[in-house]
Amino acid sequence: MKVSGIGAIAIVWAVAAAAHMSAQAGKTVWDGVYTEAQAGRGKKLYIASCAACHQEGMQGADLAPALKGDEFLLLWNDRPMSDLVDRVAKTMPQDAPGTLSPEANADIVAYMLQVNRFPTGAAELPADAAAQNTISIMRTK
Ligand code: HEC
Repeated sequence: MKVSGIGAIAIVWAVAAAAHMSAQAGKTVWDGVYTEAQAGRGKKLYIASCAACHQEGMQGADLAPALKGDEFLLLWNDRPMSDLVDRVAKTMPQDAPGTLSPEANADIVAYMLQVNRFPTGAAELPADAAAQNTISIMRTK
């Protein structure tokens, strides 16, 4: 197929516009990606399953690192939410990995977002990995 100059420009424009739209479809943690109620459920789960090692305030202790603050956020900066939830799902609680449901893990990570002072929103953090993959963790806006 021979594409005229104008046709080629239109194709380039359409591809660029599509790429731009898909980038916009993705959200960051600054867009309100969990609810207050979800973080409340997550807090109870966190205290029951995580606080013994990471401490109630998430400041960490001994071998368990902090789950809040600059050092933690730099480690996860510019990575998809699915990576963080997956890390929790597969390796935590360290003394019983893989024992919490996908919903429980999403609730706990929602509470981690709240403790790290990211804003709440109208929709819950999804328990589904593909949906979590569209949300980026960004330390700053
Ligand atoms: C028995 C102690 C213990 C418990 C309980 C525990 N953790 Fe951990 N956690 C650790 C240790 C030790 C590390 C660092 C070594 C490792 O990665 O396994 C860690 C690492 C992590 C990391 C990676 C931190 C980083 O710097 O990237 C996350 C996230 C995490 N834990 C979340 C949780 C959550 C959420 C729970 C509760 C569901 C939990 N942990 C329960 C001990 C624990």
